[in-house]
Amino acid sequence: MEIIILPTPGDVARTAADVIEQQVRRGPCVLGLATGSTPLVTYKELTDRYRVGSLSFRHAQAFLLDEYVGLPAAHPQSYHSTIRDDFTDSVDFGAGSVHGLNGMAEDLEGEAAQYEALIAASGGVDIQILGIGTDGHVGFNEPMSSLGSRTRIKTLTRQTLEDNARFFGTPEDVPHHVLTQGLGTIREARHLLLLAMGGAKAEAVAAAVEGPVAALCPASVLQLHPHVSVLIDEAAASRLAHREYYTDTFGRKPAWQGL
Ligand code: F6R
Repeated sequence: MEIIILPTPGDVARTAADVIEQQVRRGPCVLGLATGSTPLVTYKELTDRYRVGSLSFRHAQAFLLDEYVGLPAAHPQSYHSTIRDDFTDSVDFGAGSVHGLNGMAEDLEGEAAQYEALIAASGGVDIQILGIGTDGHVGFNEPMSSLGSRTRIKTLTRQTLEDNARFFGTPEDVPHHVLTQGLGTIREARHLLLLAMGGAKAEAVAAAVEGPVAALCPASVLQLHPHVSVLIDEAAASRLAHREYYTDTFGRKPAWQGL
């Protein structure tokens, strides 16, 4: 795990965009996209680079991490809609190359299995962008999710319902069920980029990075992955015990190593 503490959320977004740009420039690739507030500045940065003509996504495919059960794709708060509004409709992904889970599927288990098969058929995710919930979830793998889980239905915790009420009105208005890639699925991506900004994420970041690997903090499973970049701002880093070491290490990193 490489922990990179940057001064501002803008620095986090630019660094994440640099990593994604490098991948996209190498040729056809598969991106794993998170929704929610955290990656918005990164998506804006990538959109700006596309608009000035320096970057194209026409050879990229994308897979979303999760979707609310019971929301049609056209619902403004479905993750299908939000990723289109926040990113994919503003750049040049080819038709049919952005994939998401169907939260309206009659057979949710079948939908989950099909999604796994589609990711596998694409050759697997090259770079997976991840946010982190205040309860330590990644995707919607809530505490006590199996560390080896695959795409499936999950029930959101009270904490996540409250955190996401800002998009729906009240916690009760937030769909209680979701389809989410599992922790085992996410771990198969070749490079994981975990992004976090702001003090509200500090405790979850500390548990994920410096705590034991435990289902209580699902993001802690990333410690077992061979290539994880944790990009966080000062506020999100504020509960880390070994901040100085991470900063010193990143400062001395040979330029040729990249992220
Ligand atoms: C969204 C997702 C979630 C969010 C997390 C943080 O696709 O998978 O894990 O990344 O809930 O949400 P924000 O970024 O809104 O704080």
